[in-house]
Amino acid sequence: MSEANKNWIKVCTLDEIPPSQARTVKAGDTIIAVFRLTDNRVKAVENRCPHKQGPLAEGIISGDDILCPLHNWRIHLDDGKVAAPDEGCVKTYPVKVEDGQVLLSLD
Ligand code: FES
Repeated sequence: MSEANKNWIKVCTLDEIPPSQARTVKAGDTIIAVFRLTDNRVKAVENRCPHKQGPLAEGIISGDDILCPLHNWRIHLDDGKVAAPDEGCVKTYPVKVEDGQVLLSLD
């Protein structure tokens, strides 16, 4: 789906997420972690580590990766893939900043 056709929902303003931290958003039964990286880019993944459901929003951001707070698995925020030697994948969501607003798509 092209970017223009997505349904974007407002999460919060960028300023409401401290740098290198995350905010969670509930969408039905799914909780999504929206991360603000040090350079103010934003990334969104399901807030559930593929290992044992660790809350990724409480992990430590390292570059474009998140380190799970439970057992330190490293997960790429771009594609949701777990770094080797561990294996797995978490769902990612399109997210962007426009006019200071963080916008998330569930499409
Ligand atoms: S639950 Fe995330 S590394 Fe174990």
